Amino acid sequence: MEAASLFVCLECGGAGLEQGSRSLTCPSCRARYPEDSGHYDLLDIKNRGEPTPATAEQRLMESELVARLYDRTFRPAFVRLLGGRGAAKNAGGLAGEFFIYKNALGIEDRPGPWLDLSCGTGTLTRALAGAAPGDWVIGLDISRPMLEVAGSRLRGYGNTLLARADAHELPLADETIGGSIIASALHVYDDPERVFHELFRVLIPGGVFVGQAFHHKASMFHRLAGQIGGIRRFDPYELRGWLSRVGFVDYEEIRLGGSFIFRLRKP
Ligand SMILES: C[S@@+](CC[C@H](N)C(=O)[O-])C[C@H]1O[C@@H](n2cnc3c(N)ncnc32)[C@H](O)[C@@H]1O
Repeated sequence: MEAASLFVCLECGGAGLEQGSRSLTCPSCRARYPEDSGHYDLLDIKNRGEPTPATAEQRLMESELVARLYDRTFRPAFVRLLGGRGAAKNAGGLAGEFFIYKNALGIEDRPGPWLDLSCGTGTLTRALAGAAPGDWVIGLDISRPMLEVAGSRLRGYGNTLLARADAHELPLADETIGGSIIASALHVYDDPERVFHELFRVLIPGGVFVGQAFHHKASMFHRLAGQIGGIRRFDPYELRGWLSRVGFVDYEEIRLGGSFIFRLRKP
């Protein structure tokens, strides 16, 4: 199976694109999606227009400078600012965080393909691709600058495909993805519940969703930092209710300072 076949055409809605040397093509209507800096643009700009960032944090994510400095400077600072010292320390830094995602997804025991939704600069996409060399790993994000950095980092990985897409409207066919992570991004979505519905739609039965969120109980300083950045905090109890209404089952969670990672399954 080719990764392109997981995607649907924005023009005719037909499932299953085909990958050429530097583009994806719809076999039904021949619409073409050329590759640009290592990714394909599958955002429905024709019907929806260019998205405008709604929060201060998302405005930063659309900056080329931030994208270049993201892994070393911005990610650790965000995690510290929004989740407190314990969020990174309890996970064991980014490597420890990846270890949790990888094991929660069950990469070694389950079939892919794997989705890194809102992949940013592709750090976790790359780690997933290395951990699952026999599976496709799809990285989707709405920010062009973040995807450009991801594209340069993933050059040479034969099992990844990066695309620009909106998490609220995934350009993926139904029941195609074995498991997905959403790391450090739930807090910036306009409508997380809609994203959960989309994720549920694209997961195969038995597929796993592992997400990270910032806890609603935090110190005044951390709550204030979040409010300034326009980020959403989550009450795990409420979140679990939303997810079970969408249809997910088997909710599990671990708390890491002011952040938590949760895992669910599509029955
Ligand atoms: C804080 S970064 C996290 C990146 C990466 N997952 C990580 O763990 O470092 C949040 C990402 O969410 C992306 N994002 C925000 N809104 C989105 C949307 N509606 N659809 C897809 N991605 C979105 C941003 O562009 C940004 O790259």
